[in-house]
Amino acid sequence: MEIIKVKDYDALSDKAGELIAAKLKELKKPVLGLATGSTPEGLYQRLIEKYKRGEITFKHASSYNLDEYVGMKKDDPNSYRYYMNEKLFKHVDIPLDQTHVPAGDATNPEEACKKYEQAIQAAGGIDIQILGMGLNGHIGFNEPNTPFTAETHVVDLDESTRKANARFFASLDDVPTQAMTMGIATIMRSKEILLLVSGDSKAETLAKVIQGNVTEAVPASVLQNHPHVTIIADEAALSKL
Ligand code: GLP
Repeated sequence: MEIIKVKDYDALSDKAGELIAAKLKELKKPVLGLATGSTPEGLYQRLIEKYKRGEITFKHASSYNLDEYVGMKKDDPNSYRYYMNEKLFKHVDIPLDQTHVPAGDATNPEEACKKYEQAIQAAGGIDIQILGMGLNGHIGFNEPNTPFTAETHVVDLDESTRKANARFFASLDDVPTQAMTMGIATIMRSKEILLLVSGDSKAETLAKVIQGNVTEAVPASVLQNHPHVTIIADEAALSKL
């Protein structure tokens, strides 16, 4: 794993923006794995700025998001589809039919997960997967003790994850109890992975991810087994190393 230590969240977003822009320039048909949450917001802003300056194009890119809440309509402001449209897609030239988010509103979520997994493979796999990390080390919505062999699947959300994400909803009761997520195996098949971590609340978990045992108890620790991972983290997030 390559670890890039930066001063703060702004510097993290700058660096991540540079790396993703370089990928967009390098590949003819880049397949991006995208993440939601607050951490990648700065990265998406940097990409929008670069696009507006004419430095990059998304015309030939396609994207696959990590996860989506089950039961969420696409136009619900709390859906990850809505987040992606607002934070990135509508500001750049990516054709919307080249963007993919698991279908949280599918009548058969299990079936939708299988199709999603197949679509990723059919696209030739993900060139670079952007990841944030939950406080408990979850990636996507793969909570602790999810088997490393899991592909895209439906998960029950941890109470701690629902509480952490309740800030976006009117109340904790409104936070969905289930989500669809790429599995650890799906994520690990990406050719390259970029993990972004900011803030001291994640410092203890990040230390385990980098220095601890590879264990299903800390999902992001699996990244130690991937041949091409870059972690961009700020000083606060790396303070427990
Ligand atoms: C959610 C998402 C994850 C994300 C995590 C951390 O649970 N499913 O993909 O990494 O939140 O979010 P944040 O970046 O806001 O700390």
